[in-house]
Amino acid sequence: MLAIIGGSGLYSLGEDFELQEQLSRETPYGDTSADILQGRWHGIELVFLPRHGPGHKVPPHRINYRANLWALGHAGVTRIIAVNAVGGISADMPPLTLALPDQIIDYSSGREQTYFDGDDAPVTHIDFSWPYSAKLRAIILEAGLQQGQSLVDSGTYGNSNGPRLETAAEIARMRRDGCTMVGMTGMPEAALARELDIEYACLALVVNWAAGIENRTISMQDIIANMEQGMLRITAVLLAAARKIVQ
Ligand code: HPA
Repeated sequence: MLAIIGGSGLYSLGEDFELQEQLSRETPYGDTSADILQGRWHGIELVFLPRHGPGHKVPPHRINYRANLWALGHAGVTRIIAVNAVGGISADMPPLTLALPDQIIDYSSGREQTYFDGDDAPVTHIDFSWPYSAKLRAIILEAGLQQGQSLVDSGTYGNSNGPRLETAAEIARMRRDGCTMVGMTGMPEAALARELDIEYACLALVVNWAAGIENRTISMQDIIANMEQGMLRITAVLLAAARKIVQ
């Protein structure tokens, strides 16, 4: 079963989603961001979860990533395409770029980031050398190309804590570290998916230049406008990828 995790700007799959079951938010780790919606999207069976909850009320540092991922796993999900709005750092990431990052550097702190921290759980160190599923990334890339959507097929996702945007110096450091984009919700989501053995890939939409790249402040209005414009393309890629996955 495929799941789509919607990020900022993607709160539902629209009228073409036919709801079959709404799963409870309760998990052993607390409540998920929203009810998990199981149904058919253009006839394709999948589940959808808006990461920030209904009405975008849950900020990145307050998302219960453990509950969200546990609930998806419990619903039988084996593959996740996660949609994330990001700021562009490198020259190949101007606003409205679609990208499939292949690496992560995590700068967040204070988030519950593992299932292996209970008193009775054995110490477990998952391999996370390549944090995203190569197979799933290849499917999304091919789907994008078929839709005539160009996708940047690499990149390092710098995960900041938020909810504030970064300083120019923080972005300069991230750039020196090798980050090509910056977001707030990539981690620990990707790591928890790996702990649960769920294939996971991130489809990122660049909605602004990151702090200090341009000589001006970042405008929320521009971000929202880019989000709205870009999500139509994201939806087209998601649908084509979902069709490939179930065929
Ligand atoms: N920084 C962090 N997260 C983001 C940004 C940004 O500039 N844009 C969208 N999500």
